[in-house]
Amino acid sequence: MFQITIDDTDEQYACSETKHVLAGMQQLGKKGIPVGCRSGGCGVCKVRVLEGEYASKKMSRDHVTAEEEAEGVVLACRIFPQSDIRLSVIGKLNKAVNR
Ligand code: FES
Repeated sequence: MFQITIDDTDEQYACSETKHVLAGMQQLGKKGIPVGCRSGGCGVCKVRVLEGEYASKKMSRDHVTAEEEAEGVVLACRIFPQSDIRLSVIGKLNKAVNR
């Protein structure tokens, strides 16, 4: 299990390397976490990884450009932690998390 820290709120949750980061976030029980397709197609779960390692699955270029991906901007439902991670949420997800 790795610790995921949401930089915006300093909240933490545990996420195993076999679960995507969005699945762990849902377990925080926050209302309104926008759970879309969970397969990298809708883009609602966009985050910026500030620290930590992760493995990622294919993401739609409509939502994450190659430049963004190189900067750690990824879809939470497509990344799997490989270390503790600190991330910031962007887009629609931000509203739900920072409410
Ligand atoms: S939930 Fe649709 S891209 Fe992550």
